[in-house]
Amino acid sequence: MNFRFHYNFVIFITLLFTACQQSATEQATSTQQTTHNDTLSMSSQPDVHSFARPNEAVVKHLSLDLTVDFNSKTLAGKVSLNIDNKTQTDTLYLDTYNLTINKVTAGAEEKPVTYTLGKKVEHLGQALALVITPEVKQVHIYYTTSPQAEALQWLTPQQTAGKKYPFLFTQSQAILARTWVPIQDSPGIRFTYDAKIKVPAELLALMSADNPTVKNAEGVYTFKMDKPIPAYLLALSVGDLAFESLGPNTGVYAEPATLKKSVYEFADLEKMLGAAEKIYGKYAWGRYDLLVLPPSFPFGGMENPKLTFATPTILAGDRSLISLVAHELAHSWSGNLVTNQTWNDFWLNEGFTVYFERRIMEELYGKPYADMLALLGYQDLMQTVEEFGKDSKDTQLKLELAGRNPDDGVSDIAYEKGFSFLLVLEKTVGREKWDAFVKNYFQKFSFQSMNTENFLNYLKAELFADNPQQFDQLNIQEWVYGQGIPANIVKISSERFEAVDTAVQQWQQGTPAAQLKTKEWSSHEWLHFIRQLPDSLNISQMSELDKAFYFTDSGNSEILAAWFEHAIQTQYKPAYPALEKFLISVGRRKFLTPLYQALIKTPEGKKTAHQIYAKARPNYHFVAVNTLDSLLK
Ligand code: BES
Ligand code: ZN
Repeated sequence: MNFRFHYNFVIFITLLFTACQQSATEQATSTQQTTHNDTLSMSSQPDVHSFARPNEAVVKHLSLDLTVDFNSKTLAGKVSLNIDNKTQTDTLYLDTYNLTINKVTAGAEEKPVTYTLGKKVEHLGQALALVITPEVKQVHIYYTTSPQAEALQWLTPQQTAGKKYPFLFTQSQAILARTWVPIQDSPGIRFTYDAKIKVPAELLALMSADNPTVKNAEGVYTFKMDKPIPAYLLALSVGDLAFESLGPNTGVYAEPATLKKSVYEFADLEKMLGAAEKIYGKYAWGRYDLLVLPPSFPFGGMENPKLTFATPTILAGDRSLISLVAHELAHSWSGNLVTNQTWNDFWLNEGFTVYFERRIMEELYGKPYADMLALLGYQDLMQTVEEFGKDSKDTQLKLELAGRNPDDGVSDIAYEKGFSFLLVLEKTVGREKWDAFVKNYFQKFSFQSMNTENFLNYLKAELFADNPQQFDQLNIQEWVYGQGIPANIVKISSERFEAVDTAVQQWQQGTPAAQLKTKEWSSHEWLHFIRQLPDSLNISQMSELDKAFYFTDSGNSEILAAWFEHAIQTQYKPAYPALEKFLISVGRRKFLTPLYQALIKTPEGKKTAHQIYAKARPNYHFVAVNTLDSLLK
């Protein structure tokens, strides 16, 4: 698909919206246009993953009042929605998935409201249509979640670090907020919120909002998020949690059993926040805290505003995996402040965030360090393109996810091809000019959504105004709408990895593993080392490496996961007990998928995979189960 087509399409849509004057994005952005880009028109695109019709009536604020019941594994209570009925419509459309709606009322008098639940659509759930009049400013929905609500993971005490109390956390991205709140679940729609959450008295509740730091005797907690956020950033966690400060604006929550380790690991958090602000401007959200979850958390991290949710698998004991925190922090600008308008524009969230993450790491730990991360990312990208096939549409930055689960769009393409594209832009105009552009971009479109076409128009108008030919020479249409990797990708090299490559060669030429010069290596060098090992290792080579470097016993999840891939390939059985333990205790999908994939390549491995999965599956969150069920079916 070429850029010209999209450009025409943008103009068409723009005209359409100018005529109707209905586009929220357009109205919001047009008031902020500066003289410089008055000619720029911002267009809004429909979200194929939501039933909401925000051009008619849109939610501006929500108030949650919920009780968390660990026995029935449900949230029950009410949500009140303040709405802006733009077109005096008689119907408000919301997204729901497996919710039981008990009652709907309107206004302070709580007059009964008629409603219907639409038919169930795969991936999307059911539209909840409320019959309203133009006077209605607020509706109240009384509802209960399903014990199978896909955003929610209810953990038994056994699945926590402390083993004494149950635990609950949500994961709303991409379209799972609708499984725990009836809401307009589209990243292009933003609202403020407050909440009252009742939990068992021995537990603490936290949200993507202003948070308490200590428990109270009643087990009732109130929250406020006074900045507008999209639904996928709604988050709640309940457990035996404690807080420790890391600086004036930062801190960490964890179970008491993991708090000390967490405080050590994230000691640089306050500095990291400062480094990020220095690069792209003021942090907009007040405090920045981390929440360390039990190991079944399906992601490395989730950028819930004010409170990043993180996997405990980054607690390596040596602060070596904190680039993940830099990543989630970076989302406070890319994603949370300027948000992908639809899931087809996901690269705008993740590509920018990977780019910013590496800038933060460079600022704090130097260029050789950031280069290692970039090269590991480049390897991931090449592998992903190979797996998808270089002609696959899933290798486009602009995704085509209509009719599919947006989770299918979560791959290294958005992250690493997105990063690579932005690096081309940085190298083309120079860092100084690029940084000024990005800083301005985050500020100008704060608390708004952005789609790929509007971004490209803005890019051309702002960054290439004095040199449009340069813009035309960048292969932008190929980068964004084309498949595979364009030829003008910036080559990345890493001096620290060159030393690793030498060591791998020396070992292959006969130097015993124990004599290799590995003393100063960080976990990134080790990861590169393991990745560079040939596929054809034999058992005695595996054994030699393991004796020299203790990979099977590593406390570093990245090293373990990479090593286990070789162990599976070579059927190096001494690592299997540790592999099984890892697969049962860790729920992070990024580690699970490649390991199960490697296992099922042989008939014997397939048996092992099914045996382990039978034990492990109850520990996994729905998003991991969803992926693995289809892999192992
Ligand atoms: N927002 C993502 C996680 C996500 C993406 C959840 C799409 C659901 C749908 C988060 O910021 C992320 O990218 N996490 C990565 C970490 C990373 C350092 C690339 C992860 O979990 O591995
Ligand atoms: Zn991310």
